[in-house]
Order: sequence, then structure tokens, then C-alpha cells
Amino acid sequence: MTKYVIHGGNQLFGQIDISGAKNAAVGILPAALLVEGVCRIENIPQISDVTLLLKIMQELWAEVRIINRNTLEVDCTAIQNRQVPYELSKKIRASYYMIGALLGRFHHAEVALPGGCNFGGVRPIDQHIKGFVALGAEVDVRGGVVHADAKELRGASVYLDVVSVGATMNVMLAAVMADGMTVIENCAKEPHIVDLANFLNSMGADVRGAGTDVIKIRGVKHLRGGTYSIIPDQIEAGTYMAAVAAAGGSVVINNVIPKHLDCISSKLREMGVQIQDMDDAVRVTRLGKLVRTNVKTMPYPGFPTDMQPQIAAVMSIAEGTSLVTEGVWGSRYRYVDEFKRMGARIQVDGHVAVIEGVEKLSGAPVRACDLRAGAAMVVAGLAAEGVTEIDCVHYIERGYEDIVRKLSSVGADIRVEVVPREDEGDEAADQAG
Ligand code: EPU
Repeated sequence: MTKYVIHGGNQLFGQIDISGAKNAAVGILPAALLVEGVCRIENIPQISDVTLLLKIMQELWAEVRIINRNTLEVDCTAIQNRQVPYELSKKIRASYYMIGALLGRFHHAEVALPGGCNFGGVRPIDQHIKGFVALGAEVDVRGGVVHADAKELRGASVYLDVVSVGATMNVMLAAVMADGMTVIENCAKEPHIVDLANFLNSMGADVRGAGTDVIKIRGVKHLRGGTYSIIPDQIEAGTYMAAVAAAGGSVVINNVIPKHLDCISSKLREMGVQIQDMDDAVRVTRLGKLVRTNVKTMPYPGFPTDMQPQIAAVMSIAEGTSLVTEGVWGSRYRYVDEFKRMGARIQVDGHVAVIEGVEKLSGAPVRACDLRAGAAMVVAGLAAEGVTEIDCVHYIERGYEDIVRKLSSVGADIRVEVVPREDEGDEAADQAG
């Protein structure tokens, strides 16, 4: 086990390269199960969620060849449809994409459900199931395992009652080789939805409308191999933008799609941060004072819930009182008590957090409660006076490739320290992401 030790107060200058998008990768890898042939996937982020998914795929006898640090080849031609065991699926929420992929390929899936609780609330999959049933599957949950079976899958109309990233992607996976046309309405529009559709199309699928709220999928008989490069990670980029906003300085963030960052850039600009969009980079500069703003998280193109803790860290040191309203998850404020240990003034009432900016945060020992909460602790620690020690950083490493190296390269004083086993934080079975 390791922890991060940050000596706060350094301004950040230089350049950071953004990795491939986690939430695209965790949909695209299961999508490779649908393909008979070799999928060469580039710009794969080297994060523990990807490692876990690859383990699950190898359990199903997928052949995985590592070509280089961020490129791999996956060949699922010979996979056997075996049960995805709880021991693996519990560690990663996105294992639910195996249901759509196995159902699409074999008309049968048995996948242990990951636990339901994180961010302090439940994470249902009723909309995923609604979609599978509309396509002709029988789905039931027995002994913690989702069993989905279909004699045949037929294209159907699916209206999602809530805008869900997971349900949109999972129904797409199940429908791509169904017989006839599937229309998914009230879809999520996140960049990773479009990326999954582009991946599937590049392997021979016929998916149209991804990025709008209606996706039409005309089923095809087979998907064939090909090469695909994953989009840059919007949230990783946003996290470094928040880090520069909090610590001050000027950093060019490379390998991004600036359009995907508009929702984040516009809020940071309101707070006094300069952001200059370039072709595939943004320069983020904060030299003066930060000022308050309000944020409400929403599905894309709204402000992303996965940036909520990080922007809260910036608001904690902005002049005035900011409001955060969580509009996607029931609650996502477990990190607030950790922030308070650093001197932040935050009151939470249901979905709303009221953040009264303070002059300075002070370094403290804190815990990463989940992936984005952990990233927010890093952002806060960079801006704080003194030393911040962050425990349970395995959560952070689920979604950020080389965060310590990337931040050190722009002047942050952050290092990894090995924690003796008796000091380990508890590893709650929590799989945010
Ligand atoms: N919902 C339902 N029923 C469903 C599915 C979702 O009621 O069947 C509700 C959820 O409870 C939530 C809302 O719909 O209130 C949105 O959930 P969504 O399905 O969009 O979330 P997800 O697919 O489980 C993905 C990301 C999360 C991100 C959310 C929202 C992955 C692997 N995870 O989760 O990412 O917060 O979309 O954008 O793509 C992270 O990366 O840190 C992370 C948590």
C-alpha cells in the first residue's frame, strides 16, 4: 500500500499530456468481446481499472497482447462464455458491460453484480435490464449474479427513464448484432458514448446518432477486427485544470479535445482562471485571486459529476461563497469531512454543498474515499500550506495514469510513500467509476 505526500504551495508551470479516457476504455474493451478478429486498441490508459477488465476478459479466454505501454491487441475470436466471477466483478463497476457484450455475442450472460453502494447511495442497473428485456432477453438476478438469456435478440425501441451512461452503452452492446433496428431514446451524450459507437462502427457495426439523445442501431451479422484509438480523458484533463486553478501557475494540457472541456473551462473562467483553447491542447493560467461561482452537475454537455469534488476543492479557496448542486448521483459528498480536516468550510444539505472560501487550506492527513474524491484531495493538497498525506490512493490509481509523475513534471512537490501494512486504510468494497 502506498500514500501520496504533498508539500503544498508550489505553483505549476509546464506541460502535461492527457491519457486515453477511462470511461471510454472500460466500455470499448468489453465491446471487443463482440468482435471476431484482432482489435488493436491504442491510447489505452495504464490504470488499474483497465488491468482488472483485461483480467476478466482473459478469464473468458480472450487473448490479450501488450504491444506497448498504451497499445494492445485483443482477440476474442475463441472466447468461451463463462461466468464472470464475483471476485473480479466486485472490484470494478464497469464489469456490467460484460452483460451487454456477452448477451450480444452468445445470447447468454452470467455476470456477478458489483456491490451497489458508493458515493453514499445505490447504483441501480434497472435501465440496462429494461433495454435487454426489450431486445428479447429474459433477465433475472439470482445469488448476486445477473442471468440474461435470449433465444434471439431482435431490434426494439428502448426509452431510458433516466439519462444513463451505463445503460446507453450496455444496450448498444447488446443491440449491435441483434436482428433489425434498435432505437434508444433519452440516451446519454457523453464523449465516451460517441467513442464506443465509433469503435463499434470501425469494426463493422451500424450505429448512428451517438452524441444526440436518440441512437439508432441497425444490427449486423458480424463485427471484424481493426484498429482504434481511444479519445483523451475529459475528466483527467479537467482534474489537472482544477489543479492549476487551485495551485496557481500556467500549464499547457496536451492531447485533449477542447470542446469536451467547455463545461469545465466555462466554470473555471467564471472563477478568474484564464483558459486558452488550442487545436488539441488548452493553456490554463491562474495568477490572480479565485472568485466564487455555482455549479450544478448534469449529464453531458452539463458540468460533469466526475469533476464535482475537484471543483469543490478550487471553490474552497475562492473568495466568497459557492454552491454545488449534485444533479446526477443522490449524494457525492463523502469527501467533505476530509476537506474539513484541511480547514475547508463546507455545509452539505442533501444534494447541495455550501462552500465558504477560506484564505488558505492547511495540509493534513486525509483519505481518498473514492476515485474523484481522491483526485480532489490531490488538488486541495497542492494548494494547501504544509504537508498533506493522502491514504487509500489505490482509488486514485484506478483512473489516473501516472498522476504523481505528471504533477511532479510541472513542479508539484508530490511523492509516493510506502505505508507499512498495519497503517493501511480500510479497503471498503467500493468501486466508484
Ligand atoms: N441510474 C438508474 N438506473 C440505471 C442506471 C442509472 O436509476 O439503470 C441512475 C443512477 O443512479 C444515477 C444516474 O442514473 O443517478 C446516472 O448514472 P449512470 O448510469 O449514467 O452512471 P454509470 O454509467 O454507472 C458512469 C461513469 C461514472 C459517472 C457516471 C455519470 C463509467 C464506468 N462510470 O457511471 O464515472 O459518474 O457515468 O456520468 O463510465 C468516475 O469515473 O469516477 C465515475 C463514477
